[in-house]
Amino acid sequence: MSPHMGTDLRIRPYEPRDRAAVRQICCDTADAGKPVERFFPDREVIADLVTSYYTEFEPQSAFVADNGSGAVGYLTGCVNTKRFVRVVTWRIAPVVFVKALARGTLWHPQTLRLFRANLGMWLTTGYRAGPTLYEYPAHLHVNLQNGFRGQHVGRRLVEAFFERARGVGVRGVHAGVSANNPRACHFFEELGFVEIHREPRFRSPDGSGTILYTIIYARTLD
Ligand SMILES: CC(C)(COP(=O)(O)OP(=O)(O)OC[C@H]1O[C@@H](n2cnc3c(N)ncnc32)[C@H](O)[C@@H]1OP(=O)(O)O)[C@@H](O)C(=O)NCCC(=O)NCCS
Repeated sequence: MSPHMGTDLRIRPYEPRDRAAVRQICCDTADAGKPVERFFPDREVIADLVTSYYTEFEPQSAFVADNGSGAVGYLTGCVNTKRFVRVVTWRIAPVVFVKALARGTLWHPQTLRLFRANLGMWLTTGYRAGPTLYEYPAHLHVNLQNGFRGQHVGRRLVEAFFERARGVGVRGVHAGVSANNPRACHFFEELGFVEIHREPRFRSPDGSGTILYTIIYARTLD
């Protein structure tokens, strides 16, 4: 069996020593499985925004796939999305904003292009989780490094999170998936998730005006 076969990977709870690997995997895979640089210039800032709730405020809902040398994939989860929105709004976003100012990320031409193309849409749509928060209060993100995909590692990570969510009495889970990531859409559908909502997320900053949608998938837990 090749050292990359999924069964060689151990699924285990997240530990603080996994933090750097989780942040790196996040940046390496953030654009529908590809590196983040196509749409954002600063790995530090995007990793703070996308991972720090899960690693700093709810590490007990995170899991990693470990190949013996460290994490090569992760699931970051949250069992109470209302808390997530509160923590991100009041604790994380302000700190990241100041950091982005200090690092000059806000004035980077790529950031300015992204803001110019999207600010209007973001201000009018926001986080439209509405009914989702009540029926499917938990949510998750799952990302594997290239080379470790398609070997049921993602499925095993999701199952680990389902067990955690059931253990704290949560009966519904949702996940946001980019509509331009058909492989991830198929993955969630195979795991019993159904589309409950679709919302515009990004207008491509390339001037084409193309709008990229996020599909909200959800499923109940038995
Ligand atoms: C999406 C991702 C987490 C799936 O994890 P994975 O370990 O590759 O998927 P699994 O092997 O567990 O697949 C489970 C099922 O999903 C479906 N699936 C997985 N990869 C697929 C692909 N590339 N194309 C179509 N279906 C796919 C299959 O039905 C598969 O079951 P089967 O092999 O028995 O038919 C992983 O591929 C990944 O990290 N991709 C890049 C980052 C990303 O897109 N993350 C999702 C962001 S929301």
